[in-house]
Amino acid sequence: MFKNVIVRRPCRALVSGITSSPELGTPDYENALKQHDDYINAMKQCHVEVTVLEANEAYPDSCFVEDTAVITRECAIITNPGTDARRGEALEMLPTIRKFFPEDRIEYIQSPGTLEGGDVMMVGDHFYVGLSDRTNQEGIRQFISILNKYGLTGSAVPLTEFLHLKTGVNYIENNNLLVTGEFIDKPEFANFNKIIVSQEEAYASNCIWMNDYVIVPEGYPNVLAEVQKAGYKVIIVDTSEYRKIDGGLSCLSLRF
Ligand code: GLY
Repeated sequence: MFKNVIVRRPCRALVSGITSSPELGTPDYENALKQHDDYINAMKQCHVEVTVLEANEAYPDSCFVEDTAVITRECAIITNPGTDARRGEALEMLPTIRKFFPEDRIEYIQSPGTLEGGDVMMVGDHFYVGLSDRTNQEGIRQFISILNKYGLTGSAVPLTEFLHLKTGVNYIENNNLLVTGEFIDKPEFANFNKIIVSQEEAYASNCIWMNDYVIVPEGYPNVLAEVQKAGYKVIIVDTSEYRKIDGGLSCLSLRF
């Protein structure tokens, strides 16, 4: 069960966030704020304490806090984002992490290693890590070495189609995996119950398990039906403004 969630309010510079889909348009800031309010309310419904950090105008993508740290049951790992525009975001998260973890339980990914939390999928005590444009071999090596120190394990999953691992595959507990695109046939995921997400609804493979609920993005009826059929209670949150800059439900929080 998760007890805590950390989010950061979107900043006005959000409209200049990094995107691979400019055809979706520029985020509407006011609507992004409203969607963020709804996200926070959904989290609260899942019986967690929500820490809301102030907007940080220095970093357009800074509401995507998931990329700045990986929080395990044993330690917090401050990442080293793999794109220059976001690198400084990880250290901005450090003061908040210090409120939850003592110094000797805070670890760091260091250059030349890069790693973003969006590339990390936790399945119990094992962590799948996407080898992506943002997360490199050295970052994964450091990450797995830190995990091993705490009795946890990790393994690399190469990817080419998506920004992050969790852009296309997400674990929703009970051995259930939402999976799309290049991840459908990956041998690493052969033993999961796979809920296959079509290309049309690929964005909604990024759902998040939150205690008794699965949070599903608004506008993806097939994924919604499949998640309900799998027996979960669902909460729907509209993240359409964040989608315009490659952000999904998981990107918007740290959950632990
Ligand atoms: N816009 C989110 C990212 O590129 O990391």
